[in-house]
Amino acid sequence: MNKKITILGIESSCDETAVSIVQEENGKIKILSNIVSSQFDIHREFGGVVPELAARAHVEKIDLIAEKAISESKINIEDIDAVAATAGPGLIVCLTVGLNFGKTISASLSKPFIAVNHLEGHALSPKLNTNLKFPYLLLLISGGHTQYLSVENLGNYKRLGTTIDDALGEAFDKTAKIIGIEFPGGPKIEKYAKQGDGNRFNLPKPILNRGGCNLSFAGLKTAILRIQSEIKNEQDKFDLAASFQKTVEKILYEKTKIAFKMYLNQNKNFKKTFVVAGGVAANKGIKDKLTKLSEDNKFECIFPDISLCSDNAAMIALVGLEKYKKKLFDKLNFKVNPRWQLDEKAQFLKGAGVKI
Ligand code: KG4
Ligand code: ZN
Repeated sequence: MNKKITILGIESSCDETAVSIVQEENGKIKILSNIVSSQFDIHREFGGVVPELAARAHVEKIDLIAEKAISESKINIEDIDAVAATAGPGLIVCLTVGLNFGKTISASLSKPFIAVNHLEGHALSPKLNTNLKFPYLLLLISGGHTQYLSVENLGNYKRLGTTIDDALGEAFDKTAKIIGIEFPGGPKIEKYAKQGDGNRFNLPKPILNRGGCNLSFAGLKTAILRIQSEIKNEQDKFDLAASFQKTVEKILYEKTKIAFKMYLNQNKNFKKTFVVAGGVAANKGIKDKLTKLSEDNKFECIFPDISLCSDNAAMIALVGLEKYKKKLFDKLNFKVNPRWQLDEKAQFLKGAGVKI
């Protein structure tokens, strides 16, 4: 039998308004449309995302983006099987826009509604371009989260390590700001780094030799703030960007080695698959370094397609698809959950005095 499942996905957790249609036919997943509208121009003058402005832009754009996604997919809206929308984590005012929009479509078409954890979207995203199977070790590196997780099944996550302060994407963005690169600066650090000397500045690698595969990036930012007064010309900026990029690569390299061991310690029969996902997974230097480490440790290393690293709705529709197959539907009174974690049993590890 030719079985088709078609899911409409909606994402609005931060500063991207996104709608996508994903379809599975005979076990093969296809992205029929994937429309993302970024709000960089709105937030640039403030040097970061302003929640109220982001929410307003979602309200203004979401129906247009949805219309575009539906028309590009060439499906008839009545033919979708379910609506999936991000319910958290993220900015509450932003999440509310997409979640309510999704609930409205679901109610008006009488189709099941599925609330999606944004991080689960990142976690599963390589399934859109590879034949990824559970279980696997995940390094999630985005603007708000940095975690090593053992992904055992849909909805079954065990956190092995986390940042105890800043997320890695945040560290990239803050470094860019200090160097004087316009928001969103994170992706540009890598370009600057290519022209610089990574050995020029010696930056700290906090908790490198303790705390298992927990990570810390706040000390790096403080060190860069101190160096700021030495930055006089473009070459200094390139050198600082290169030193930051090199330090981050080294930290991830060492912490991933520990995460490999911790993952296999749980179950030595776990498949040696290592997934790196989230916005920072678009960083080529990190990708090359972690791919090499994986090869040396006989792990298969999988990254999402670069177009699917940063926030998008295809990954949300994908989680919707997986949940749909298990009939994991949600009620229309499902509340936004701005702090929704993948491993809800994991200990809170942020702030002064935390023991790692
Ligand atoms: O996953 P994402 O799109 O949004 C969140 O869920 O947070 O990640 C955005 C983060 C930003 O901090 C951005 O600076 C960072 O990913 N990012 C990068 C690169 N591309 C995006 N960081 C380093 N190198 C890149 N090439
Ligand atoms: Zn994200």
